[in-house]
Amino acid sequence: MSNNGLNYKKELESAAKSMILIHDPRLLMKIIVRMIVQKVGVKHTGILLYDNEKDTYILTVSGGVSGLKVPAGFARMDSDNPLIRFFREGFDSKIFGERLLEAARLKLELTARKHRGKTAAMLKKISYQMEIFDTAACIPSFFRDPSSLKDVLMGVLLLGEKKNNSAFKQDELDFFAALASDVAMALRNAQLFKELKQELENRQSLFYHTTTALAAAIDAKDSYTHGHINRVIRYSQLLGEEIKKRNGLNGHFMENLRLASLLHDIGKIGTPEKLLNKPSGLTIGEFKIIQQHPLDGVKILQSIKELSEIIPGVKYHHERYDGKGYPEGLKGKQIPLLASIISCADAFDAMTTDRPYRKALTREQAITEIERGCGSQFDPLVAKAAIKVFSRLKE
Ligand SMILES: [Fe+2]
Repeated sequence: MSNNGLNYKKELESAAKSMILIHDPRLLMKIIVRMIVQKVGVKHTGILLYDNEKDTYILTVSGGVSGLKVPAGFARMDSDNPLIRFFREGFDSKIFGERLLEAARLKLELTARKHRGKTAAMLKKISYQMEIFDTAACIPSFFRDPSSLKDVLMGVLLLGEKKNNSAFKQDELDFFAALASDVAMALRNAQLFKELKQELENRQSLFYHTTTALAAAIDAKDSYTHGHINRVIRYSQLLGEEIKKRNGLNGHFMENLRLASLLHDIGKIGTPEKLLNKPSGLTIGEFKIIQQHPLDGVKILQSIKELSEIIPGVKYHHERYDGKGYPEGLKGKQIPLLASIISCADAFDAMTTDRPYRKALTREQAITEIERGCGSQFDPLVAKAAIKVFSRLKE
């Protein structure tokens, strides 16, 4: 506890909490600046933050008494500025034994001519820089680069005088130093967080485009069902939304449904085209080959970690509620909902498009077929949703 009643340990803990919760560096720095002005009673303060594209330190946030504070964005120090070089090259700890600069102490030492030659010239320039910014103390903020193990100067905290014009006390300076090092770490984390997020977005987009391209390749292979996959995705989404309204579904379900419906026939990549496009009369042997496609789909997808949750949708999309489907003859609620939805969407599209051996059914006829298949081919939960949503579809 300091003698002005501020509990620095508590303040540091609360600042650390903000740093964990807030991933927006600018907001974080604003909070820190406001705390210094309000709680420590500093007239004005600001943070010079390193911009690595421009290789310069820009006053990114500032706060305090208007007229005294330097507006953010209006000041910068290039990396050859004496004050920046002083911290970057470690002169602060070499000359003063610690990593900070106080204007009063610097002036005192210059007046007493404690330093000579180049050092004295450099300190004079630094003293002048601090006067320009009306700064009583500068606290550097470093982070240790894990690859080079070198300290990198991320920013400098510029502190004006205290409102009561007294000098900073040691515990206050210690507090600022701790704060500055925490901020550096938080800024670094925020930067890493941003980079990771970007990388994740790039990967997701790549993943989405790859899977879409793959599904489109299958769709193109089957000349009679062109556009089939996009329609199955659309019908599956409509069914999922309807079931979600009534029964509620977990957060990932709709996304899994989109991917599973996109990839449900991926196993057809291994099915000979002449079978897929055969006008009619498949032999038992040929039918068996076609029936392999759900399991072939599983073989393709099982090595992709991100797709593990959609595999049941692909594997069981030809199962029937009465147990007469394939590949395993699952019955009733043994069939995952993901698969039951795709199965119904798939059947509705098959019925409403022309096939080599028959003309398409009308929407009403297809809905009647779904009603008839409720509880035998289709899960009643899905069939009821289908009757409702498919009735609303435009022809
Ligand atoms: Fe299929």
